[in-house]
Amino acid sequence: MNDQARLLRKQIEMHRDQKDTIKEPEKEAKTLAVVSGKGGVGKSNFSLNFSLALQKQGNKVLLFDLDIGMANIDILMGTTQKYNIVHLFEEGRTLAEIIQKGPENLSYIAGGSGLTDIFKLNDDKQRFFLSQLAEVSAEYDYIIFDMGAGITSDSLQLLLSVDEIFLLTTCEPTSITDAYSALKHINIHNRSIPFYLILNKVPDRKTAIKSAERIKTVAQNFLTKDLTHLGSIPDDRFVLRAVMEQTPFILGYPNCLASKAIFQLSFLYEEGKRMSDKSTQQRKPSFVAKLFRLLS
Ligand SMILES: Nc1ncnc2c1ncn2[C@@H]1O[C@H](COP(=O)(O)OP(=O)(O)OP(=O)(O)O)[C@@H](O)[C@H]1O
Ligand SMILES: [Mg+2]
Repeated sequence: MNDQARLLRKQIEMHRDQKDTIKEPEKEAKTLAVVSGKGGVGKSNFSLNFSLALQKQGNKVLLFDLDIGMANIDILMGTTQKYNIVHLFEEGRTLAEIIQKGPENLSYIAGGSGLTDIFKLNDDKQRFFLSQLAEVSAEYDYIIFDMGAGITSDSLQLLLSVDEIFLLTTCEPTSITDAYSALKHINIHNRSIPFYLILNKVPDRKTAIKSAERIKTVAQNFLTKDLTHLGSIPDDRFVLRAVMEQTPFILGYPNCLASKAIFQLSFLYEEGKRMSDKSTQQRKPSFVAKLFRLLS
């Protein structure tokens, strides 16, 4: 057996006993998943810049690239990663070991190719992953998952466990239809997850409001589901410029329209959260415990 395989086996054996004891931690990060129906609507750019904005507001954020196979968060930041998620599963590295540091000291976990789906892994590896998540969760205020486009039967398990879902779409009818399909797919399995709707690359305010109303009305009429329209991000050429420069746009161009929108969104989001935390003191089931139940 080579060294890597031996290390992996040891790590897994150490966590095997945790099968029935993945406990609800005292403090746990809020988990958010950024999803879309159609690809290329801006999920990765949003996840990265929103994470940085939340961090600027005093939060500790872990950005987790879960677009397995098409991972690109590190490219958007211009960082080279030593480890990615594959190192956890294939080499038995701990989550703490594979957490990298991006701009402004943002913690992130890079996605990796060569791993088709983490939710298709065997039980031992999944349990190892969950126990690791439970361990790091207490250190963060937010864990933000940047997901691949669309909903697969595998990503669904994670999505059903997170605290909140951010649904991104552009104003194009095809993008809106696909966003609705994604919402419907998740809603069939769990009607209680709060959804935030974000319109991206919007040409103007009027079109954004019209598009948001359209999807909100359909969701209400056909699924009796309330969506919160958190805001819209303009189609802004500085985003492309920042992508080319491999710099998050809120850092490279803090005064551009897209950056202002991100700052506003993150502020509104935190304000809303503070208000709802005040009114509901009840503790929700832990993300890791929910995911554990779905996987076992
Ligand atoms: N607000 C915006 N204004 C202008 N261009 C944007 C904006 N947001 C994203 N883009 C452009 O859209 C492209 C796709 O963005 P991004 O990679 O974030 O999408 P994605 O939803 O993560 O894609 P995928 O589904 O492939 O993961 C980027 O190249 C970026 O330049
Ligand atoms: Mg992406």
